[in-house]
Amino acid sequence: MKFKRTTVTSALPYANGPVHIGHLAGVYVPADIYVRYLRLKGEEVLFVGGSDEHGVPITIKARNEGVSPQDIVDKFHKLIKNAFEDFGIKFDVYSRTTSKTHYEVASDIFKKLYDNGKFIEQTSEQYYDTGAKQFLADRYISGKCPHCDNENAYGDQCEKCGTSLNPTDLIEPKSTISGSVPVMRETKHWYLPLDQHEAWLREWILKDHKEWKSNVYGQCKSWLDMGLQPRAVSRDLDWGIPVPVEGAEGKVLYVWFDAPIGYISNTKELCEAEPEKYGNWETWWKDPETRLIHFIGKDNIVFHCIVFPSVLKAEGSYILPDNVPANEFLNLEGDKISTSRNWAVWLHEYLGDFPGKQDVLRYVLTANAPETKDNDFTWKDFQARNNNELVAVYGNFINRALVLTQKYFGGKVPALGELNDYDKQTLADFADVKTQVEALLDTFHFRDAQKEAMNLARIGNKYLAETEPWKLAKTDMTRVATILNISLQLAANLSIAFEPFLPFSSDKLRKMLNLNSFEWAQLGRMDLLAEGHQLNTPELLFEKIEDEQVEAQIQKLHSTKTANESAATPKVPEVKENIAFEEFGKLDIRVATVIECTKVPKADKLLNFRLDDGMGGRTILSGIAQFYPNPEELVGSQVLFIANFAPRKLCGIDSEGMILSAENPDGTLTLIRPTEKLANGSIVV
Ligand code: 2FM
Ligand code: ZN
Repeated sequence: MKFKRTTVTSALPYANGPVHIGHLAGVYVPADIYVRYLRLKGEEVLFVGGSDEHGVPITIKARNEGVSPQDIVDKFHKLIKNAFEDFGIKFDVYSRTTSKTHYEVASDIFKKLYDNGKFIEQTSEQYYDTGAKQFLADRYISGKCPHCDNENAYGDQCEKCGTSLNPTDLIEPKSTISGSVPVMRETKHWYLPLDQHEAWLREWILKDHKEWKSNVYGQCKSWLDMGLQPRAVSRDLDWGIPVPVEGAEGKVLYVWFDAPIGYISNTKELCEAEPEKYGNWETWWKDPETRLIHFIGKDNIVFHCIVFPSVLKAEGSYILPDNVPANEFLNLEGDKISTSRNWAVWLHEYLGDFPGKQDVLRYVLTANAPETKDNDFTWKDFQARNNNELVAVYGNFINRALVLTQKYFGGKVPALGELNDYDKQTLADFADVKTQVEALLDTFHFRDAQKEAMNLARIGNKYLAETEPWKLAKTDMTRVATILNISLQLAANLSIAFEPFLPFSSDKLRKMLNLNSFEWAQLGRMDLLAEGHQLNTPELLFEKIEDEQVEAQIQKLHSTKTANESAATPKVPEVKENIAFEEFGKLDIRVATVIECTKVPKADKLLNFRLDDGMGGRTILSGIAQFYPNPEELVGSQVLFIANFAPRKLCGIDSEGMILSAENPDGTLTLIRPTEKLANGSIVV
């Protein structure tokens, strides 16, 4: 079918951390290349992005940092949105799943499916923390791994041996919220009966979409061959969109139910804000003449090819994706990218170290795109591709063509004279570039398409190197004019061919050529610059990257690795000089209960503790404020303190002793707290 327009979505990143090169290479650069290409062709296209702001990991991060989940997502949504803008990922809309529109759209879809009997209800037993009065998500349960005895495995996975687990697999499970032993309790949830969708999914994917990338098709086939099971679409959690039906108090929509609906909500938000420009949102999601493409990473395949289409099908009025060009993963210097180990190149940090070099990273990530298998990013390759390809081929060709035109013709496009065989051969090599690059872009082969564009630059570079117009300048200016006219037409072509891949450089080149805009249709034409057209002063399109710059990056990565390793096997500080028992006996260490705890105004580090010390109470200031951002949460805890320290004044307050903390290997401090309730004033012996 001939489609009229295209809706392109790219996976909504979780707003609980910044984005790194793996995200860019796998999802956002390919999506942006594709969208820029369609826009250049003058096609109607909508590029939808946004942040995924629900899910358990966000609540865990919030709890660990003593802030609210909303604080976490506010911070990272902004950071991620800015990073995408900085790298030229040109979304039509970048919104978020905590928006009002999203709550409405997601609730409405759930409600419609519920009302039409598209879900089944099931009751199951899940771990419950009676103290915290809540059901525990898998990540909120820890215990001993049955495979490797790691004491700190989680209810969904053991991070030591990598095994996927169920919470019930854990030996001696504990709630990570309260530390208590959870009990099993019954809970009711709604499930999408994927087993009932299997037949049409088989037909739709395995028969009608044989053209999907083999990694995507293969993964879908193996899911379907294993047989689909009902999937829960709700969770017991206090962060998310409340399940909009009666009797569902304390339950929210499962993050993987609401996140892809975010694509729809974000479209709606945009169209309602700018109806003249974008029209009715439903056109982008319900018109059979609209083509829907999802750009994602391989870990999202099942959700975009099986689960979300089943939701859309069950709803009944939506189109289904026409293609889901998922990528594999990008590794970094031979090792898996890991947020928790800080083994990553963060976008916001990259631009600090390489200002203005967005296109270099875009180029290298596309050249190494993990399109068919996992691939590796190395800083040496980054340097080599910049220096040997962008600088030595593309940049060099443009620079020579423009500088020579400046020198011999005052920057005016010279006249095209008679063509010799070599000229004709060069033009012929360029002639079918449009068809070739198009065929690759249309089938999501971005790596090869970019390679093809670079081959064009190679042809141009070779043309100048072999015709040597600088040597002819003394004898045959007509010939020099022809060579430079051809070279400039090639340069203009390159700015079109590279526009989807290297938009910043194309823009710069266009300015140097003194041209306003291009269309894809002009690619391959040799009359883009009229004779006599005045060019602007040439500048370098790319700069060499020096060894020291990449050495510094490698160093930076390895220093995080070393820091991580030493955190994993902490170095224990050396034991101090021996003392006599009498000296220890001089210290009066006691137990007290915190009755009040507040920040000391104008002192970043200090907390003011009011303690019940069993002796009428006392005040102690302690320099641990940065490790306890919500000091009021310490009220009720028991702590240890030195009772016979001479009082001293800090910030105008009398501090009567010292509260004991332990210093962790990373320099953070943790209060020492008795594990059992003790009488205030008890002496530590
Ligand atoms: O894997 C992820 O990062 C998810 N946040 C992707 C969601 S894509 C879509 F469903 F929103
Ligand atoms: Zn294990």
